[in-house]
Amino acid sequence: MNEKEILEWYLSAGVDVICGNEPMSHNAKPAPAVAVSERTPVRPAITDLAQSGDAACKNARDICERASSLEELEKGVENFDGCALKLTANKTVFGSGNPHAEIMFVGEAPGADEDRMGLPFVGRSGQLLDKMLAAVGIARNACYITNILMWRPPGNRTPTTAETAVCLPFLKRKIELIAPKIIIALGAPAANALLDTEEAISRIRGKWLEYCPHAGEKIDLLATFHPAYLLRNPAQKGKTWADFLRLAKKIANN
Ligand code: URA
Repeated sequence: MNEKEILEWYLSAGVDVICGNEPMSHNAKPAPAVAVSERTPVRPAITDLAQSGDAACKNARDICERASSLEELEKGVENFDGCALKLTANKTVFGSGNPHAEIMFVGEAPGADEDRMGLPFVGRSGQLLDKMLAAVGIARNACYITNILMWRPPGNRTPTTAETAVCLPFLKRKIELIAPKIIIALGAPAANALLDTEEAISRIRGKWLEYCPHAGEKIDLLATFHPAYLLRNPAQKGKTWADFLRLAKKIANN
């Protein structure tokens, strides 16, 4: 195997994060023990706060309550260490777009490109999303785009329930502050988190549903397939195209 093939083999096995700067041979004799006081600090795998899901969620809610603008909320997120994913991610992907948008897109979590750039939907999924938006005449910069999680799960694995729970208050506060008229949930994790359901995306996509920020308040929500799913299953693009036409029709009638 050459170097490229070895790297591709690692990638296919989900190994896409480098944990140290020096390569290490597992066949070499172990180095002589170093006194604890002389060791280089090891990057922790989890923060104290993230170890207690309840405390982390409460801290997240407190930060959200104190934030009266998106900028304040972003500052609060910078100081938040209740999600262990922040330790493995390169950047926080807070969200981007028009802070007064009428349409808000919610995806799942940053991927490798988003993690590098600190912006949502800039990789292959984002390029497909851009094409779909352009096809129905919606300007991306008129929308606000974010994810449930603000940090990339290693290897792009699906967010855990605990990660979703701790990031959800931030997403809900973003929705309150932006106050969009329409939310588009991209994929099952986003739809399920916002609708508090466990339905399959194939059952809930394509119909207008409601997200309730508070009792008595409703925001129109449409769930559709995630662009990453469409890249793997292009045969489903037609259904998503129909969903984007539903969105365009709704905007035209609003
Ligand atoms: N997939 C997502 O769910 N979000 C992104 O930002 C990129 C890919």
